[in-house]
Amino acid sequence: MSSTGRRQNVAPPVGVPNDLDAFWVPFTPNRAFKRAPRLIARAKDMHYFTPDGRAVLDGVAGLWCTNAGHNRDPIVAAIQNQAAELDYAPAFQFAHPKSFELASRIAALTPGDLNRVFFCNSGSEAVDTALKIALAYHHVRGEASRTRLIGRERGYHGVGFGGISVGGIVANRRHFGTLLAGVDHLPATYSREHQAFTKGEPEWGAHLADELERLVALHDASTIAAVIVEPMAGSTGVLPPPKGYLQKLRAICDRHGILLIFDEVITGFGRLGFAFAAERYGVTPDMITFAKGITSGAVPMGGVIARDGIYEAFMRGPEHVVELSHGYTYSAHPLACAAGLATLDLYRDERLFERAKKLEPHWADAAMALKGTPGVLDIRTVGLTAGIDLASRPDAFGKRAYEAMERAFHDHGLMVRITGETLALSPPLIVSEAQIGEIFDKLARVIKAVM
Ligand SMILES: Cc1ncc(COP(=O)(O)O)c(C=O)c1O
Repeated sequence: MSSTGRRQNVAPPVGVPNDLDAFWVPFTPNRAFKRAPRLIARAKDMHYFTPDGRAVLDGVAGLWCTNAGHNRDPIVAAIQNQAAELDYAPAFQFAHPKSFELASRIAALTPGDLNRVFFCNSGSEAVDTALKIALAYHHVRGEASRTRLIGRERGYHGVGFGGISVGGIVANRRHFGTLLAGVDHLPATYSREHQAFTKGEPEWGAHLADELERLVALHDASTIAAVIVEPMAGSTGVLPPPKGYLQKLRAICDRHGILLIFDEVITGFGRLGFAFAAERYGVTPDMITFAKGITSGAVPMGGVIARDGIYEAFMRGPEHVVELSHGYTYSAHPLACAAGLATLDLYRDERLFERAKKLEPHWADAAMALKGTPGVLDIRTVGLTAGIDLASRPDAFGKRAYEAMERAFHDHGLMVRITGETLALSPPLIVSEAQIGEIFDKLARVIKAVM
C-alpha cells in the first residue's frame, strides 16, 4: 500500500481470491444475494443452467431481452464471425456497413415515417438520447422555450439522470438529488379497484390521459418539449395501457406541438405480438426508444427511431459541422450490429412476433388460472407478459415476492422477476404451450409455498 492507501501494482496480481466480495451486484440486495447466490453458468433456448448443471426454465427472457431464446446458433455465429472480421470502427466521423444495414432493417419494422435510427448501447442511453433529441429539435426550430419534459408516475426509463427524472419509481429517484429541472408527471394508469384481473388493455382509465391537458394549462404548451411513456409499463409490474389512452395522448400532443416518445425498450421486438407496441395500438409516436430485444440480449445495444421530420430539422447549416453533438464510443458497435442483423433474421424466419400474438390467449388463460390462489391480489396480462401482485407480509413490503423468486430458482427450476410485491413474467417468444403450462404450474407451487 502507498501512503494514500492504494495498492501499487506493477504487474497483474496473482492469487486474487475468486469470491463474491468485489462485485457490487446492480439492482440487487447484495447481502441477501451473497448469502444464497443465484448463479448462472450457461444457457440454451428456453433454459439457463447453474454451475452444477441444474436446468432453470427462463420465465423472463433474462431481463425482458432474450426474445429469440438463448444462445441461438445463428446469433452466436454472427458474433463470432464479426469479432474475427472487424472488432471496432470509430463511431464518430466513420462508420461500417452493417450499421446502415441494421438501421434500414429497423426502420422497415416501424409504422409511419419513423425512419431515422440513432444507435447507443442500452435502454438508459436510448432514453437520454431521445430526451436530448427532443430538446435540441425544438431549439433548432426556433422554439427553445420548449424545455419541459413530461413523464409518468410508475414509469421506468432506465437509470440515467434523464431517465430517472422522467421516471416515476420513487426508489430509483429519492437518493439522487433534485434531478433534471422542469419535469412533471402524468398519473399512473393503474387502479386495482377498476382493473383487477384484466386480460389485455383495461376498459377503465383512458380519461387519465386528459391530465396532460391539465399540465399544458398549468405550464403552457410553449414550455413543453416532449411526453415520454412506456406503451405498456413493464418494470413497474406490467401495466397495459387503458383502451384509448395512448390515442388520447397522441391527440393532445398534436394539439399542442409536443413530441410523443414511446419507450419501447421492453415492448419492442415482439413482446406484445407486434414489432412495436406502436403498431399494436395504432398510435405513431414521434420517437421510439429500443434496446434489449434488438440483439436478443446477446450484445448490448439500444437506440432511438425518429420521424423523418425530426432528423430533417437538424440538416441545416454548414455541411462540415456536426448537426447533433451526441453519441457514444460504442454507438453501432460492429458486434452489436452483427448480432442485431442475425436476431432480426431469426424473428422474421421463425415468425416470432406472430407466434407471440397467437400464443397470447393461451398465455393469458394460463396466467389467470392462478386467480383464487390465496394471496394473489391481481393478475395482468398483455402479449407474452404477466404481472402477478402478491399480498405483502405485515411490515415487510417486497419480502414475499423476494422469497418467491428465491424458491422458484432454487427449489423449482424457474426464473421469475420481481418488482416490489409483483412477480413479472415475459418468456422468450419461442416458449411452447407445454412450457407455458410448466411456468404457471411451478409458479402456483411457489406462491403456495410463500403464503
Ligand atoms: C422501458 C424501459 N426503458 C429503459 C430501460 C433501461 O434499459 P437499460 O437497463 O438497458 O439501460 C428499461 C429497462 O428495463 C425499460 O424497461
